[in-house]
Amino acid sequence: MEPDTHAKVHIVRRFEPLAVLAVASEAFPVIKTGGLADVIGSLPKALLSQGVGARTLVPAYPAVLANCPNREIVGQMSVLGEEVTLWAGHCNELELLLADCPALFDRLGGPYLDDRGRNFIDNWRRFALLSATAARVAAEGVDGWRPDVVHLHDWQAGLTAAYMRAAGIDIPIVLTIHNLAFQGQFPASIFPALGLPDHFFHMNALEYYGDISFLKAGIRMSDAVTTVSPTYAREILTEEQGMGMAGVLQSRRSVLSGIVNGIDEDIWNPLTDSHIAANYDLESLEARQANREAVERVYGLTPGDGAILSVISRLTWQKGIDLLAPVLPGIIDRGARLIVIGEGDPSIVYGLAEQTRKYSGRVVVHLGFSEESAHLLHAGSDIVIQPSRFEPCGLTQLYALRYGAIPIVARTGGLAETVIDANEAAITAGVATGFQFRPGSVEDLYNAIDRALTTFENARSWRRLQTQAMRTDFGWGRSAERYARLYRQLIRDHAGSMPGHA
Ligand code: ADP
Ligand code: GLC
Repeated sequence: MEPDTHAKVHIVRRFEPLAVLAVASEAFPVIKTGGLADVIGSLPKALLSQGVGARTLVPAYPAVLANCPNREIVGQMSVLGEEVTLWAGHCNELELLLADCPALFDRLGGPYLDDRGRNFIDNWRRFALLSATAARVAAEGVDGWRPDVVHLHDWQAGLTAAYMRAAGIDIPIVLTIHNLAFQGQFPASIFPALGLPDHFFHMNALEYYGDISFLKAGIRMSDAVTTVSPTYAREILTEEQGMGMAGVLQSRRSVLSGIVNGIDEDIWNPLTDSHIAANYDLESLEARQANREAVERVYGLTPGDGAILSVISRLTWQKGIDLLAPVLPGIIDRGARLIVIGEGDPSIVYGLAEQTRKYSGRVVVHLGFSEESAHLLHAGSDIVIQPSRFEPCGLTQLYALRYGAIPIVARTGGLAETVIDANEAAITAGVATGFQFRPGSVEDLYNAIDRALTTFENARSWRRLQTQAMRTDFGWGRSAERYARLYRQLIRDHAGSMPGHA
């Protein structure tokens, strides 16, 4: 058809197609423990419309092999003394490369923890192997495919930059920090086993206070460093929020930027979502009621008209879960109900579960990780709370907005810039989408809950808030464009710095 042809010509003219090798420890839908997987699973689709074709290298954990049956062997190599089989797989529009090394990845448990919840003792070796394999793929390509840019995600991929530099592979490298709290820090005694040149044990490379940091290697040795929101990019340059890396990050300040995450609008779409009780959109918001009832049923809440509040989160200090217990009496007094679903730090989980016993039918803590439950809770809750102490971006609030569940968020990182507080000015301007409070403050959290519940009592105001929330732009569009622009800039800079180029 003619219009299509025009569109294609337009794309070809605007973009020189380019190939990206993404490297990460998880990718939805083949393996997920948190938001990293969602981003790794959805960004490549968005990059396609920017003329960027990505292939994503992840470890072939048993779950990955089971979830990606559509695959073939494309390589066999010896890496750090281990045999690695490289698979190419296709799954949900994702082009995957799987680093299959049974000695390191064929284990019970998750990507990082064993089946008893303890870190695998050789995580340094597991992710060094992922990184060294990535460097080999960057250098040699697979099946004639070669990347123009290598994009590393978090500490698990950080060492790729070191292996590429050591091998003199001249391809631009981007490192994205999804969470600075996880740095891949290990004792210096592992250094000889990494197979890197001695001079890399240096403060301008891997060395970190006498130890080794995989993330630092990525920060120091990549061409550009990004993080998942502009606010977090500023926060991590401060001593308070730099998690010991503020100085290192300041040394790369000129190449550090923040690009906010988007969401997969096909997977998180209340109109087509198959995990929820009733589909809806802005025009049929009344269908949310069937989802509220399903939530009441599934979680054993006392049925009622009071608001349903949810927390869908890792249950950790970062997420501010310990701030919830003190606000429970206030929530109950207002006739509202609360569901907390997640997994995490046993002391936090136990503390919260203890507190909730006395509120049977009003407060439910559900331990577990279930994709279906997360979808239903977004569709059937009135409010989703994210009391994070820090939050690089946060995806839960974006899903909540799209599903018309109003977010209450701590004013930090990506939460601060993706939710517009319903203060008087924002309400008057018709732009409010949720409620913000001061991070770490129980008093201010309660204040925000109180403001939200007061608004909830006024059906028209609530509807307006939901409408504005659901109209927010959550897509990858602008952010994918920024990544593509960054890749192209780096390629130009590299070409410029090579002999024989202007
Ligand atoms: P983080 O990656 O720091 O945990 P994000 O908000 O970026 O935080 O992403 C969390 C992701 O994990 C979201 O997709 C959310 O739906 C999901 N998630 C968190 N806890 C659970 C759970 N208990 N069950 C299902 N999904 C969960
Ligand atoms: C990390 C961060 C979270 C972010 C996610 C995806 O897990 O904690 O804020 O949304 O990565 O980038």
